[in-house]
Amino acid sequence: MSRYDVVILGGGPGGYNAAIRAGQLGLKAACVEGRATLGGTCLNVGCMPSKALLHASELYEAATGKAFAELGIEVQPRLNLAQMMKQKDDSVAGLTKGVEFLFRKNKVDWIKGWGHIDGPGQVTVTDSAGAQTRLEAKDIVIATGSEPTPLPGVEIDNRRILDSTGALALGEVPRHLVVIGAGVIGLELGSVWRRLGAEVTVIEYLDRICPGVDAEAGKTLQRALAKQGIAFRLGTKVTRASSSADGVQLSVEPAAGGTPEELEADYVLVAIGRRPYTQGLGLENVGLGTDARGQLANQRHRTAAAGVWVIGDVTSGPMLAHKAEDEAMACIEQIVGKAGEVNYALIPSVIYTRPELASVGKTEEQLKAEGRAYKAGKFPFTANSRAKINHETEGFAKVLADAQTDEILGVHLVGPSVSEMIGEYCVAMEFAASAEDIALTCHPHPTRSEALRQAAMDVEGMATQM
Ligand code: FAD
Ligand code: NAI
Repeated sequence: MSRYDVVILGGGPGGYNAAIRAGQLGLKAACVEGRATLGGTCLNVGCMPSKALLHASELYEAATGKAFAELGIEVQPRLNLAQMMKQKDDSVAGLTKGVEFLFRKNKVDWIKGWGHIDGPGQVTVTDSAGAQTRLEAKDIVIATGSEPTPLPGVEIDNRRILDSTGALALGEVPRHLVVIGAGVIGLELGSVWRRLGAEVTVIEYLDRICPGVDAEAGKTLQRALAKQGIAFRLGTKVTRASSSADGVQLSVEPAAGGTPEELEADYVLVAIGRRPYTQGLGLENVGLGTDARGQLANQRHRTAAAGVWVIGDVTSGPMLAHKAEDEAMACIEQIVGKAGEVNYALIPSVIYTRPELASVGKTEEQLKAEGRAYKAGKFPFTANSRAKINHETEGFAKVLADAQTDEILGVHLVGPSVSEMIGEYCVAMEFAASAEDIALTCHPHPTRSEALRQAAMDVEGMATQM
């Protein structure tokens, strides 16, 4: 029996950040992870491998398409998919090793295997060989993450019918990839394979893509992706898919019902959301259960069981790595009696397509539903000199501010590298900045960040640049 101050179940961005923070604060900490490597979904099969393929495929498309030629760079690129996958895998391996290093540096024990809660403060870990280790802890943090939501009638085999993990590791470029779900995964991985040469059809149940994002921003992104060649079938449902050795036959019909139609694809990606993962965890041994969505409830990261905490995808809130990380910090700080806090109103989200879509705060639809009076300022990248010089003029920056106080309530960016720029508004909004504060802040010229300032200036109709 090994005794710890805190045992963390799961080694993803929630779990590993909690473990490292616990080590920094002098707690004796263990992190239990069943996967062969640390880093969870994010590092192994999520954020990082998807961004590796997005980066590589973006450069490939620039080289093969008109973009390089227009810049006067003449090349004849050839796709080496095996090497593209290898560099992705090498980067992922480096990152997961990096977490191991941080564990050693902060004196965190990685207990390899699957954790099971036996009772208050009691955990048993079973490793891949079946050997068991018993742990005792004052506090247990559940950070077991999420898994893809299955779609009845469309059974994922990761041969022809894929989840995101399968779509990140294909050995060939599909001729026709059908993506079910026009959410973040569908658009990002659909973009990867389209850039590498696949015909891509995205089937979405609702009448719009990415239901949570600002509608104007979502429409702009959809238009841009459609122009690149992604076919969207909105308001459509897949009722059945059957796969053979070389392809998949799908039955689709209008979401509201109507005439069914057959579609052929050589691969199908099911990306209709993720659900919390609590399988085999032994929640019942501490009197806990999950709700209808499979989530484990929390009050400032505490569950209803004393000494059991929960963070990340397995509990409420957006399923994002930086949200899990923020909760990890706040949870451990609360365990040691500090005042850890997460500001859920200001968790940014990004879709890493081209153009990117980045947002923080309220959408126009949310403000209208709340009946809150607001002013909107908007600035197109077609009027930003750096974007023009770089031939990346799609999209806009939009700032929503309170009609009376001018406090910034929401920011929605569609455009080049906006993922790297949204942080400016996260900081400003944490300090309850007004649109005028940004409008009066000098930004470097020529940069795309000037569009963010011009949008704030436009809130009072004083945008100046062309
Ligand atoms: P996870 O990362 O899922 O980690 C949980 C870990 O717990 C897993 O490693 C699992 O093996 C382990 N585990 C589960 N049960 C047990 C047990 N009983 N014992 C031991 N170990 C256990 N988010 C972003 O913010 N940005 C992105 O760009 C982004 N891209 C993504 C791309 C894809 C394709 C996917 C699928 C997700 C992406 N996400 C992204 C979401 C992000 O990966 C998750 O929000 C994040 O990983 C959640 O962290 P977590 O620690 O809660 O859970
Ligand atoms: P999602 O929730 O983003 O999108 C799912 C989409 O599928 C929605 O548009 C939904 O309306 C649609 N849908 C649901 N059921 C359907 C059906 N039966 N037929 C057709 N469409 C259907 O989920 P996704 O893309 O699977 O991603 C899961 C989560 O992973 C995201 O919500 C996000 O939290 C995280 N993620 C984050 C990324 C980022 O931050 N860049 C990248 C990838 C994933």
